[in-house]
Order: sequence, then C-alpha cells, then structure tokens
Amino acid sequence: MRKTESFYASRREWSERKHQVLLKYLGAATRILATRFGAVYFVDGFAGPGYYEDGAPGSPVLAAQHAAKVSTEPYPLRLINVEVDEKLFQQLEQHTTHIAPTLVTNFCCSFEAAIPQILKLLGNLPAFFFIDPFGVKDIPWEALEPVLKRPYTDALINFHGRTAGQLAGLFFSQVRRPLSYGERLNKVLGTDVWQSQVKPSDKKREAIIQCYLEQVAKARGIACRHDVRDATSGRYKYSLIFASRARLAFHIMNDILCETEREYEKAVQGFKLQKPLRGLEAQFQAQAEMMLIQELKEQLYTLGKAKGRVRYGDLCFEAYRTWFARAKGSHYLAAVKQLIQEGRIRRDRLTGVKPEEWLEFT
Ligand SMILES: C[S@@+](CC[C@H](N)C(=O)[O-])C[C@H]1O[C@@H](n2cnc3c(N)ncnc32)[C@H](O)[C@@H]1O
Repeated sequence: MRKTESFYASRREWSERKHQVLLKYLGAATRILATRFGAVYFVDGFAGPGYYEDGAPGSPVLAAQHAAKVSTEPYPLRLINVEVDEKLFQQLEQHTTHIAPTLVTNFCCSFEAAIPQILKLLGNLPAFFFIDPFGVKDIPWEALEPVLKRPYTDALINFHGRTAGQLAGLFFSQVRRPLSYGERLNKVLGTDVWQSQVKPSDKKREAIIQCYLEQVAKARGIACRHDVRDATSGRYKYSLIFASRARLAFHIMNDILCETEREYEKAVQGFKLQKPLRGLEAQFQAQAEMMLIQELKEQLYTLGKAKGRVRYGDLCFEAYRTWFARAKGSHYLAAVKQLIQEGRIRRDRLTGVKPEEWLEFT
C-alpha cells in the first residue's frame, strides 16, 4: 500500500489533535492579524485531498469551513493549498472550492515549486503556514527559508524527528555511502554544522530536532517545539515546531497546545479508569494541576533568580524553551502569584501581574 493510501485510510488520533490545534489557532490568531492588516492568508503546503476515507475532514477542508464561517466578518481569511499528487489534487479541488469559492487557491505541484507564486500572491499580507509533509525530504531548507524570513509570518511545521534522527544515525554508522545520508540531512537543515555538533554517542533524534529548532529560530526570530505522542502508548509521533516573531502568537499557541493535549489525555484516562473510579477524576486532575504549578514555580524561580530582575513576559518566554505546551498562561500566573506570596519575588502590589512588569527575585 502506498504511503498516501494508508495515511488517508482513517484519521489517526494524533492527526485529529493536530487539526484541533490548527483550527483553534486559525480562529484566534487570524482574527487578530486580519483586523490589523485587512486580510490574512492560511497556506497549507501539504494539503492532501481534504477528506480521509473514514469521512473525517483534513486540514484544507477544516480551513475552508472556517474561512466560510468567518466570511461575513469584514476581514477575509484567504486560503492557499498545495498538493503534489494529481489524483489527490482533483479531490482537493472538489472538496474545497465550493465551500469558500472566492477564497481558495489550489496549486498542483510541489510545495517547493509553488513558493515563488505563493510569495507573490501574499504580497505584504500576513500569513500562517502549515507545513505538514511525509518525512523530511520535501521541506528543503532552501524552500522554507524565504517563507520564514518574510514579515508577518507564523509557521507550524510538522517535523519528523524520527526520520531526521535516522538519517543522522546512518551518517554516523558504518553503512555504505554514509555521505549521501549526511547530504540529505544537510538539505533539510540548510547547513552541515550538525555534523560537527552532534556526537556519534548522542541521541540522534533529540540532537537533530535541537539543530533544526535553532535553524528555524535563526530565520524566524523565535521557535518553540512540542512533541506529539501517541496518547495511549506514549510513543513519539512528530514534533510540532511553531515559529513566529510575535510573542502574543506564542502565548496563544502555548495555551492551545496545552489545552488540546490535556483534553485528550483526560479523555484517554477517563476511558481507562474503572467505572467506580471515574467519580474521582476531578480530584486527580486538581492534584495533577497543583503538582504542575509547583514544578513550574520552582523552574520560574531558578530562571528568575539567575537574572535577579526580569519582566514577567520575558520570564514566561524564557521558560517556553523547556515548558512550551506543558503549562497554560493561567498556570504561569498562579506560580508567580505563589512566589510573590512566599516573598521569593519582591513587588509593591500583591495582585495582578502584567507582561511588562518587573519582578525582583530574592
Ligand atoms: C501528511 S499528508 C497531509 C495531511 C493534511 N495536511 C491533513 O492534515 O489533512 C502530506 C500530503 O502532502 C503531499 N505531498 C507529498 N510531497 C509533497 C510536496 N513536495 N509538495 C506538496 N505536497 C506534497 C502528499 O501527497 C500528502 O497528501
């Protein structure tokens, strides 16, 4: 069975979560951007046919439905989809154009080949790119870099860390032609510095994801990562890498990812729990939340103490390096409030914490 056939047979739970994140972000961020700029684009670089065979909608249909829903608002959400496979492209056309007829442009070619036309269409308008390939070979750095460097761009990249890590592993191993594996990875990362940074004894997947994250951050300003796992087995599926220059975008995405993962975990746990234990669910959750805030509090204190004085917004941002998608804005607030009450943060006021506010760690 071809990769595309097995992929579209049914929508897996981790794909469903990816779609929820996408839709929530489209709702929240594009509204802010469109109000400021008059219109906003969503670019689905690896769109697929629009529906899975089990009837579940794919990313381009979800985006089209959302665009149609908000089309009465004064600022339109325009959509650009790219799909390389001709058969899937025909289905994509069929499934998207009637939903939001004047708002959708579909390209039948590779994402890489479509970039010049896409950039022309976007002009100076803000855009949110969703980059969702199979594996890593179809996102050469040469294609991605101009996207990440254009102004007012947010990107959500589905980075297949396992595939990239395997290429690195083969490069360092004794197999024949290791150089070709190295060259493939050079193309994706846009550099060969990883060959000297990563040690043969390192965990390749983790090391390469870090290198990629640094590359994306260099091009876009800031990049944060969230690893998506199979909620039942805990097995790594892929890393969602979010890149933007706007801090607000990160706060929004952080809360969305966090909420989506929690909701899913809750559903899985609820299903696993025996009936008599289900009533205790809320109690478990409250306890887990308290422990999370406690852990976050200590992490924030360590970060803040090292700096002495730091703005609240900057502190949250610093923490995102390791805490992205693990705790929501409300958890950060609760943790900082506790530190204030414990006297570990000095401040004149006891209530309300604003992003630009200075916190002094004692
Ligand atoms: C992971 S699937 C996309 C799923 C879709 N984004 C969704 O969430 O419903 C990847 C899709 O990209 C297409 N594809 C593969 N190589 C491509 C390329 N170089 N450019 C554009 N599309 C490509 C595949 O045919 C496939 O339909």
